[in-house]
Amino acid sequence: MSTLERVSTAEQAPVEATRVNSWNGWDPLRHVIVGRATGTVVQAPEPAVRRDFPEDGFPLGTWGPMPEEMTAEANEQLDSFARLLSSRGIRVDRPTPLDFTQRVSTPDWEQESMFGCMPPRDVLLTVGNEILEATMSYRSRWFEYLAYRPVLQSLFESDPDMRWEAAPKPRLTDESYVPGFWDTYNTLGLGEQLDKVAANDLVLTEKEPLFDAADVARFGKDLFVQLSLVTNRQGYEWLRRHFPEHRVHAITFTNTHPLHIDATWVPLRPGLVLHNGERLATPELVKYFEVNDWEVVEAVQPASWKHQMRLSFCTPWLSVNLLNLDPNTLCVEAEEVRLADQLVGLGFDVVPVPFRAVAPFGGGLHCATVDIERDGVLEDYFP
Ligand code: ARG
Repeated sequence: MSTLERVSTAEQAPVEATRVNSWNGWDPLRHVIVGRATGTVVQAPEPAVRRDFPEDGFPLGTWGPMPEEMTAEANEQLDSFARLLSSRGIRVDRPTPLDFTQRVSTPDWEQESMFGCMPPRDVLLTVGNEILEATMSYRSRWFEYLAYRPVLQSLFESDPDMRWEAAPKPRLTDESYVPGFWDTYNTLGLGEQLDKVAANDLVLTEKEPLFDAADVARFGKDLFVQLSLVTNRQGYEWLRRHFPEHRVHAITFTNTHPLHIDATWVPLRPGLVLHNGERLATPELVKYFEVNDWEVVEAVQPASWKHQMRLSFCTPWLSVNLLNLDPNTLCVEAEEVRLADQLVGLGFDVVPVPFRAVAPFGGGLHCATVDIERDGVLEDYFP
């Protein structure tokens, strides 16, 4: 850009200044992305994914748009959540949906459908002034970053310090997946499945680095990366090298279907982590928190989800998928009254948010958002 052009851009000052900055999950929230349900698809079969909802019109092997009334209801809850955040002075950006029913391809593969632009937390990882586009590991989600490009482009234009990064786009050839994984895995007993989870011997091979952003929990200088059905050891290794100023830990839990860390091990404020007691942490992880004077609190059981799990691939543990507005204030799904009581007992102000209709679109209040700006700086909470 020439000096002249620069001057004229500055004079017009068309874009409101923004600042990308977020180091953890609890500092006061200033700016956030909230996903949209629009156009979400029960995605076509692919090596990593099996959607099997015979009772809800999508038996194994079939695919297509989510029912219209479910999409509308989810969008209402997402929109009113976005309004609630705005009313508290938090700036909100939204993704731009594409036609997710379209067939996509790379030179290596073709996939009959995409997925959607919920949940954004899976796709984008904010660390300090950097927003990193994850590799993703489903073919149906390979192009999902496109829904966020308008937001990322405008952040890039308005924040001169923003670092915009993308992890290496994966090939996702058949060699990235264990052949026949689901057929075998589903016949194993609990113990055998958990052994495989602990060894991260799941559907992904180690052919290339793969990770979803939502497998990363941010605690300032410490980043905890869950090895899962969508994050492999090479994905962890890539993240470790990409963030040389951080301590990056690879962790697992006793969860037979590990998929995103934010319904399992949830930072609430410095010194306090909420834990889903049905998914045990390793003794090493518990010790690491204990020797650093962190309290690990087991969450109460989720409320009943009745029929709201239709077409959902999430569990009722979306209850603990919380969004901090600041270190003392938590957005909690409105029906999770017992959890809200537990959190009040721990000293939090609770903001109830109706959000159950969003679950079939991939998540709760944390999944449905991505931090763009929180106050605060990089700190070491495990000195
Ligand atoms: N796999 C989690 C559960 O159902 C849900 C986590 C969803 N998180 C997300 N970022 N999409 O327990």
